[in-house]
Amino acid sequence: MKAELYPADAGAPQPLVIEPMIQADLTAVLQIEALSFTTTWPANAFSNEIRDNKLAHYFTGRLGDAIVAYGGIWVILEDSHITTIAVHPDQRGRKLGEEMLLKLLDEAITQGASWITLEVRESNDYAQRLYRKYGFTTVSTRRGYYSDNGENALVMWAGNLKGELYAARLRALRTALDAEIAQRPATPPG
Ligand SMILES: CC(C)(COP(=O)(O)OP(=O)(O)OC[C@H]1O[C@@H](n2cnc3c(N)ncnc32)[C@H](O)[C@@H]1OP(=O)(O)O)[C@@H](O)C(=O)NCCC(=O)NCCS
Repeated sequence: MKAELYPADAGAPQPLVIEPMIQADLTAVLQIEALSFTTTWPANAFSNEIRDNKLAHYFTGRLGDAIVAYGGIWVILEDSHITTIAVHPDQRGRKLGEEMLLKLLDEAITQGASWITLEVRESNDYAQRLYRKYGFTTVSTRRGYYSDNGENALVMWAGNLKGELYAARLRALRTALDAEIAQRPATPPG
């Protein structure tokens, strides 16, 4: 009885379990999508990506049974593109987005990419910080790219992904991230 009331691992950090996105994930993915973006992808956009697009690699991240994060890339030979990444708003700031980004970078490299690019809203400071941490720099601005409010997109880019310098950067970031994950409380604060 005591063990049931106070399970030994009650406060233990939960790992984010990242797996390829499947059709059955889409209800949860669409909920996070709606909470994360002003212009959202419809269900069939995700369906087409995971079913038909051979260049696409999409993942979901779970804590326990709950999908809390997702992300996707396209890889075309040496070129890769992060198409989306999001974390449930209740779970942000707990390094889950960083874990997902690292997975996307690993996948891009595994699939043979040497560089990676993405678009991000000029106002999306948190996402830009995350990308800069992983070596992305802004290479251009697409004026009025977002149709909902005419906001500019920054085009960010990281290169030489298969080089030793970038591999060392990823190793150092992964070590730091692992240490932070080990300290991550099982449930978000508040
Ligand atoms: C961007 C997003 C995926 C980040 O996920 P997250 O789990 O909240 O972020 P993490 O806890 O993993 O933070 C990792 C890094 O991101 C940056 N960051 C994230 N949240 C931040 C915040 N509140 N303040 C400052 N930096 C922040 C930091 O660089 C941070 O690393 P650091 O703490 O070592 O400085 C998440 O905010 C999100 O889903 N936003 C809505 C969707 C979106 O904008 N997607 C990107 C489209 S381009």
